[in-house]
Amino acid sequence: MAIIAQLSDIHLAAGRDGEVDDGSGPVRALRAAVSSLLSLPARPDAVVITGDLADGGEHAEYARLRALLSPLPMAVYPMCGNHDDRDELRKVFDDHPEVTGTGKFPQAPVQYAVDVAGVRLVCCDTTVNGHAHGHMSEERLAWLDGTLAAAPGTPTVVATHHPPYPIGMRFIDDLRFVDPAGFASVISRHRQVVRVISGHVHRASVGSLAGTVSTTCPSTYRQLFLDLTSQGRAAVTGEPAGFAIHLIGLDGSATTHFAPTGNYRPLMDVE
Ligand SMILES: [Fe+2]
Repeated sequence: MAIIAQLSDIHLAAGRDGEVDDGSGPVRALRAAVSSLLSLPARPDAVVITGDLADGGEHAEYARLRALLSPLPMAVYPMCGNHDDRDELRKVFDDHPEVTGTGKFPQAPVQYAVDVAGVRLVCCDTTVNGHAHGHMSEERLAWLDGTLAAAPGTPTVVATHHPPYPIGMRFIDDLRFVDPAGFASVISRHRQVVRVISGHVHRASVGSLAGTVSTTCPSTYRQLFLDLTSQGRAAVTGEPAGFAIHLIGLDGSATTHFAPTGNYRPLMDVE
């Protein structure tokens, strides 16, 4: 059994001078999320962060991010969201061979596969330079197809920033994963994919894609207002921040939990 924790949409922000304010909301929120993971009785085997790590894609933001993640003793796998800068991310995570290995040319996609306690985690790059929507080119889809084909018998979690299914919130669907049919077609060819996990939505949701279950994760920082009307107001709301925990069995079983940030303790035992 692999336990994969998912954090998302941290949005660390730097001021004009490049300094990240230590007391700012996203910093405090990330500290709380890290503390939450450390307080879990069953420690995750790895943490994947599904994009929007740095609000402005600045070097100082990534450097601060690394420092804030340093209490986590397990492997941490960073991914790009539409707010990120691939090259700045690679510079700061330069001791992550799976991340730097993708960076042979400027703004090369940050895409890689790793083993987590016998389960495969395949991190895709759905971001498009200068745009907030998501897309995977034929080249990126071919990489995903080939990567999945290399281990057809290993339960696999595929991670993206943009979710590949409609969310129903106008603001988010306007910034959606454009034309996810190619992605769905690749996933449908690889039955070992037990989950597709995403960020971008700043709230938990569950969808389906090509015969597998697809989920989004709360933001460690701000949640988006749940407005499913056609006008779809774009607003942040005061719902608690959170994270996801994916339990992936070596037999292909998969269970996802969503939990609010906080160090919640047992109050009383239940008979
Ligand atoms: Fe975000």
